[in-house]
Amino acid sequence: MPLFPVDNGDRKPIGGDTVSAIGLGTWAIRNPRRAFEALVEAIETGLVDNIDTAEMYGEGTAEELVGEVLRKVGRERVFVTTKVLPWRLRSFEELEKAIRASLRRLGVETVDLILIHWPLEGMPVSEQVRRLEKIAIGKGYARYIGVSNFDDRELEEALHATASAEIVVDQVHYSVLHRRWVEEKLLPLALRNNVTIQAYTPLERGRVAEHPVVRRIAERVGRTPIQVALNYLISRPRVVAIPKTENREHLREILGAMGWRLTEDAIEELERIGE
Ligand SMILES: NC(=O)c1ccc[n+]([C@@H]2O[C@H](COP(=O)([O-])OP(=O)(O)OC[C@H]3O[C@@H](n4cnc5c(N)ncnc54)[C@H](OP(=O)(O)O)[C@@H]3O)[C@@H](O)[C@H]2O)c1
Repeated sequence: MPLFPVDNGDRKPIGGDTVSAIGLGTWAIRNPRRAFEALVEAIETGLVDNIDTAEMYGEGTAEELVGEVLRKVGRERVFVTTKVLPWRLRSFEELEKAIRASLRRLGVETVDLILIHWPLEGMPVSEQVRRLEKIAIGKGYARYIGVSNFDDRELEEALHATASAEIVVDQVHYSVLHRRWVEEKLLPLALRNNVTIQAYTPLERGRVAEHPVVRRIAERVGRTPIQVALNYLISRPRVVAIPKTENREHLREILGAMGWRLTEDAIEELERIGE
């Protein structure tokens, strides 16, 4: 039996919404035009409806690009996640200014989800989360709040800290090659608390396709190694994978990771690899 019951659906809950099991990231974009085209194509297929960005990415230019995509495809078609830099949390004024700047770059009045990009050293997690809740939710800038790069103890503290909003997401590094801690510690806690895990660097920047076990399974099931690596992640309940691509061929390969599932045997085989 795999470690978790296989989730056969290509829609995943985030708070009271559902999003596609694969969303797209926007870190380290090299060619904004190509990235724009790939993101628009992804949304227009109807297969992808969530995009991940951050004030940090390209120093705001990734948010601006996502803003352009939203204007092209229609704001209502995309669940947008962005992230504030942790040190913004040091003052309410700074936090509000940073969030308003993100919204301005995105060209939206409200973002769907705002995450703390990583925990701020020197401030209790509970205080960080309360500050984000007060400004992001309290002032209507975000529909949901969450965290990123929080370990299981930090997530647990965050879950208990909010006044009335829920922590709906922890976005962490999770791939078939980097899986143990997530599967042993974080995902069980997330599942008990209705927290969705957004899996970042799910392709290890392409390296997943080189692993012999991933390749062998891909050959056996008639899919590509990239598709096997992503399918492994989305077969987990409450896991959304957010690969990044600015290449439409790569995008089509990524989209082909949905609509089918690895067998339980194949998932178990993959559970034996990775750190
Ligand atoms: N919260 C955080 O701290 C954090 C940290 C890291 C990342 N993230 C988010 O997660 C997203 C994804 O993570 P990531 O960008 O680190 O890594 P990734 O998605 O594992 O890898 C992206 C790289 O893989 C390439 N690629 C995409 N599809 C491919 C395919 N089908 N075949 C071969 N190569 C392919 C991309 O190049 P092409 O563009 O040329 O296709 C890109 O260079 C980021 O963009 C960001 O939104 C969040």
